[in-house]
Amino acid sequence: MQPPLIRPRRLRATPAMRRLVAETRMHPAQLILPLFVREGASQPAPISSMPGVVQHTLDSLRREIAAAAEAGIGGVMLFGVPEVKDAVGSGATDPNGILNVATRAAVAEAGDALVVQTDLCLDEFTDHGHCGVLDSSGRVDNDASLERYREMGVAQAEAGSQLIGLSGMMDGQVAAVRDALDSAGHPETPLLGYAAKYASAFYGPFREAVQSSLEGDRRTYQLDPANAREGAREVLLDVEEGADIVMVKPAMSYLDVLADAAATSPVPVWAYQVSGEFAMIEAAAANGWIDRRRAIEESVTSIRRAGADAVLTYFAIELATWLRAGPTPPVPAQRGAM
Ligand code: PBG
Repeated sequence: MQPPLIRPRRLRATPAMRRLVAETRMHPAQLILPLFVREGASQPAPISSMPGVVQHTLDSLRREIAAAAEAGIGGVMLFGVPEVKDAVGSGATDPNGILNVATRAAVAEAGDALVVQTDLCLDEFTDHGHCGVLDSSGRVDNDASLERYREMGVAQAEAGSQLIGLSGMMDGQVAAVRDALDSAGHPETPLLGYAAKYASAFYGPFREAVQSSLEGDRRTYQLDPANAREGAREVLLDVEEGADIVMVKPAMSYLDVLADAAATSPVPVWAYQVSGEFAMIEAAAANGWIDRRRAIEESVTSIRRAGADAVLTYFAIELATWLRAGPTPPVPAQRGAM
């Protein structure tokens, strides 16, 4: 047999060569940290299914924003955990509701260092836990929910949100909130459409994080995991309705949907490495079954490689710190690896 003429291993031979030919690079500015803020809390409260992640008080939120700015990440995404919930999610539109109060505090703390973003969805604020309001037969009422989203969007813009993330998956939500903001004198507030958000088991730990009241599921509004074409259609619709950025969520199980969106979208495409993706890595690492740092770097690199311009991840600050410190320390030589 002839020796091979083509030897791809030449470009893998040394750390310096691998670094030179890496196709995907990550920068702290492409990372966004989701943060939970709990109304009335006097101490940060741990979330058992998300080790290291807490429900913040306003004070610990300010400190975390300072740490995020220090790490150089691109932004934070705020979620509120209210003390009181009701059928229409009144806390979401109250200027003194936790999310709006937290937004003002975060914007004051962040200055120009990063972009303060807010989640626009009713699920944290409703006593039934759905992302919209219900009709008389208990179904999620799309158009009545849009009315609430319009009010919520204006309340968030007035609190100073610098990018509003629409995660409720109601039809027409981007156009509705865009119109409300424009009519209320906020034409400059950009909108992030959670365009292709799937009905996923990987949101499990998040539901603990926001103390969700949901019984049942969200399958009448979030996408069926079986459908890629439907994801592409939702991306297209959000772009047509005026989304400034679109998102695919979760990330790792939907890299095909993400790659398709990245290839076709005229606006930036982001992806959300959700709570269950975070929890799986933490749990396996805690058991010694995977190398935690390498798994985090590989997972976020893969999401970027599939086409995400930026990534929401609970690892944002830690990953940014590693990125600034330099390449991963060499893996101890494995027998037979050479
Ligand atoms: C809805 C919302 C959810 C997440 C972000 N926004 C939960 C849901 O749709 O049930 C999940 C994020 C995560 O799992 O990290 N407001």
